[in-house]
Amino acid sequence: MKKLNIAQIVSHIGEEVEIRGWVNVIRNHKKIVFLDIRDASGVVQVVGDSSFAQLSPEDVVTIKGLVKKRPEKLINPKLLTGTIEMEAKSFTLLAAAQELPFDMGKEDLGLTLPVLLDYRSLTLRHGKIRSIFKVQETIVTTFRKTMKDAGFTEVQAPTIVATATEGGAEVFPISYFDKKAFLAQSPQFYKQILVSIFEKVFTVAHAYRAEPSVTTRHLTEYVGLDAEMGFIDSWTEVMDMAETLLKNIFKAVKTEHTDILTQYGVEVPKIESSIPRIKLTEAKELIFKRTGRDIRTEPDLDPEGEREMSKWARETHGSDLVFVTHYPTKKRPMYTYPDPENPEETLSFDLIGKGQEWITGGQRINNYEQLVTNIKKWGQDPIHFEIPYLQAFKYGMPPEGGFCLGLERITMNVLGLANIREASLFPRDMERVDIALPKT
Ligand code: 4AD
Repeated sequence: MKKLNIAQIVSHIGEEVEIRGWVNVIRNHKKIVFLDIRDASGVVQVVGDSSFAQLSPEDVVTIKGLVKKRPEKLINPKLLTGTIEMEAKSFTLLAAAQELPFDMGKEDLGLTLPVLLDYRSLTLRHGKIRSIFKVQETIVTTFRKTMKDAGFTEVQAPTIVATATEGGAEVFPISYFDKKAFLAQSPQFYKQILVSIFEKVFTVAHAYRAEPSVTTRHLTEYVGLDAEMGFIDSWTEVMDMAETLLKNIFKAVKTEHTDILTQYGVEVPKIESSIPRIKLTEAKELIFKRTGRDIRTEPDLDPEGEREMSKWARETHGSDLVFVTHYPTKKRPMYTYPDPENPEETLSFDLIGKGQEWITGGQRINNYEQLVTNIKKWGQDPIHFEIPYLQAFKYGMPPEGGFCLGLERITMNVLGLANIREASLFPRDMERVDIALPKT
């Protein structure tokens, strides 16, 4: 007898097969029992005799039975296996599940976020929730493919670091034997160093932020899709690369996950031809003109400003995304390249999508002396950056730039999720590391 996964059995009508999976839903009609059995590939309806009534939701079973075509009027177009059902002959209980804390059989779980996360190992099994991470996988796979096709090398950066990567207070110190180290805020320094070895690099990297605020778009541990490219002729090449990546991601998600997009009632973000690019100073003027809200003296866009710019991009360029460029020098990290035409501004950008920042990027200072001067200007001691970071610049670094796309940010925005925690398998925030942390 063939052991098949559930998606495969559709093409085995009339054959006896064995499937393995979990009891998704059980409907007991006394003499006959209907079960939806789920494995990683899909769900199938199984019809069994009264002996199946002893099973419970989430029990792990093997079932042997005959694959049968469903009568026309019983076809379920919502199911991949909706044209067939399995007439069960026997089952083996591999592992019993305890009574569930809530009904997992509903199309929408409808739980509050704390409950969704308190029972994470269980709620992740639910079809609609699991789908988020199939989309996320496609985003990562497309990132890897796009970068490799463009000649980038995938690298792994350490996440235990001796200095706070980008400066600032948002780092987690760790006790490192009898010394102090930090969790990396970003693979920034390493991806830059590796440009001097591989020219173009990318990494899928965990990054840690000690953000002391609880918001719907910040995690304390997130995944960055980071890229860095050497020998650029212009910093705009970095934006071009990011744009190609986003277009590829939307195309792949649309092609591979139409059903999930429908389930979430969303479409992939639109880019009519290209993503509009606008200087921050011009963006702030536009916001003032369009809304009367004056943030022209602010160094950055606030969330309301980001939402307004997204609206503007949609209305004027048919694009759900917009690049905002030339952030003020004093507001960007010390490695950001100043605009030669106006050193108060940098050759940097943010990609704003649906009112949120998804990407930060730009050109980096590649001249050793200039970088050392800047580190001092930023109030830091270059000695802390000497090894390994400055060493790479001391011995020759080409003009280079890069970007980071937040994986959970893009996932939440593509699927229209209300909270970034829903886009992380096991989200960490100020108040939760798997369990809600007890107050100290
Ligand atoms: O804007 P950020 O802090 O930039 C950097 O880390 C630079 N080293 C990137 C570069 O190449 N210049 O972070 C980059 C992206 C953000 O745009 C956002 O999508 C995501 O990482 N991100 C977070 N996602 C979830 N929770 C947080 N606390 C995040 N902080 C940043």
